[in-house]
Amino acid sequence: MKKLVVMASGKGSNFATILNAIKCGQVNGEVVALIVDKDCGAMDIAKQNKIPIFLLKNRDFTKELLQILQSLQPDFIVLAGFMRILKAMVVKQYHNKIVNIHPSILPAFTGLNAVEQALEYGVKITGCTVHFVDEKLDHGPIIHQAVVSVSNQDSPQTLLKKIQKKEHKLYPQAIKWLCNDQVIIKGRTVYIKEDNNES
Ligand code: GRF
Repeated sequence: MKKLVVMASGKGSNFATILNAIKCGQVNGEVVALIVDKDCGAMDIAKQNKIPIFLLKNRDFTKELLQILQSLQPDFIVLAGFMRILKAMVVKQYHNKIVNIHPSILPAFTGLNAVEQALEYGVKITGCTVHFVDEKLDHGPIIHQAVVSVSNQDSPQTLLKKIQKKEHKLYPQAIKWLCNDQVIIKGRTVYIKEDNNES
């Protein structure tokens, strides 16, 4: 069983769906800790599930983060709405072990406010992406993507709601592949090995 550390800054809806997928037996993993950079909704979910919480104290949290990760020895670090950028030192040390979910079809609309950016640009489709984290922002090899259509009536709120509905399926599926060692990375391209147990 793989050891997962989740990092979050927000309400934690992705964190909750990952925990559900583990409970249902979809994901062969265990969340050993939640790391947050501030008081946030994800902490309540961790408390309800008796998952240890680590609160990063410093503005430059790299040293304390590396210490926490060293003590936890995770197989994968799952960024689920963690709103800070990880320093290259962390990314290098955990090369191909850190994954993130971003609310756009990358490489479009990187960075903050991706949903607003998509609306402003006037795209007819957008979606979400699960990717490995590398030294560049929202840039690493793509594991999984899902598309949603944008309607003329959409506001940032309604579009985010549609995207998050997709995220809640996409992220557990990607983490399932990771935990089953089904993910192979060649250059920028990710290949998913067939799961022989899947019907
Ligand atoms: C998600 O929409 C994700 O794409 C982005 O941050 C949001 C986190 O939402 N990186 P939640 O805290 O999981 O509800």
